[in-house]
Amino acid sequence: MDTHVQKYEAAIVDRAATLLGEGKLVAVPTETVYGLAADASSDLAVAKIFAAKERPNFNPLIIHVSDMEMAEKYAVFSGFAKKLASAFWPGPLTLVLPRKADGQISHLVSAGLDTIGIRCPAAEPAQEILRAFGRPFAAPSANRSGGISPTAAAHVLSSLGDRVDLIVDAGDCSVGVESTILKVTDEIVELLRPGGLALEDIKAVVGNVDARASSGPAIQAPGMMASHYAPNASMTLNLSAAPEGSAFLGFGAIERHEPQDRNLSRAGDLVEAAANLFKFLHEMDTLAVHIAVAPIPMKGLGLAINDRLQRAAAPKE
Ligand code: TXA
Ligand code: MG
Repeated sequence: MDTHVQKYEAAIVDRAATLLGEGKLVAVPTETVYGLAADASSDLAVAKIFAAKERPNFNPLIIHVSDMEMAEKYAVFSGFAKKLASAFWPGPLTLVLPRKADGQISHLVSAGLDTIGIRCPAAEPAQEILRAFGRPFAAPSANRSGGISPTAAAHVLSSLGDRVDLIVDAGDCSVGVESTILKVTDEIVELLRPGGLALEDIKAVVGNVDARASSGPAIQAPGMMASHYAPNASMTLNLSAAPEGSAFLGFGAIERHEPQDRNLSRAGDLVEAAANLFKFLHEMDTLAVHIAVAPIPMKGLGLAINDRLQRAAAPKE
């Protein structure tokens, strides 16, 4: 592989932190997807993220922190927000909270909003790099805007190439879909994006969650584009059999066995299916011009999987 793809190890953690300090872009593995990281306090560094991704500027970014102490420097935590953070951090949960005025985070990160998206990732490479860097990095998924999210270093390399200064390779992401995003206003918890943390688990901690904002593929939160995570191939969802000439993405017992076909989880396990989703879409996109997808149950991580599939299948702008 390319010299700017480096296996995760101690020396690479220091190199990543140094590059971030110089305002460079580093692809960092997290448990959800690979992030395209830049110093969140530098307008110039954050602007490089938008340029590399060719991402529309109105889309705010998430900042990543090593722990609660770092998080509280940049956002105001209500009692409910604290409860959620202590239940699920580190992990695949992003909280959108009121932004602290004196927090020294680039306004480009939150696209001028008075809220900020903040996440404490669990994966060791992300944690180690954050600790070595000592302050937050902003990181969207490390792919060109609208493309399939990267769950392996090779995906980052093929999408962004040398637009990124270092790609830290720690193998496949364990969760495989982006974090669940909750907006917390005092005691109101709103689901902005289903993701790697199941809604059922969140409800067990805070009771009611308002899921209206995330329903359907329309633009609901800033940057929630209808066509997103999209392969070049066209897609049709909820099919129990695949049209001839297409590739079939199966689930459970609904599957086919052509070379271009995959099964998200033969056992019908939604956690395994989430981990396989983007990897299989990447592979199938090179093998077919149409992808047919089996029905995926709307429970647990099935909400996030169906959300990403709907966006991937939406007509492209
Ligand atoms: O798992 C993840 O969340 C990955 C890894 C790298 O951490 N990151 C990720 O970032 O998915 P990104 O930029 O692809 O998605 C962030 C989403 C966007 O849809 C954006 O609109 C929303 O978070 N967001 C960020 N800040 C927000 C805010 N202040 N208000 C509303 N939505 C916000
Ligand atoms: Mg993304």
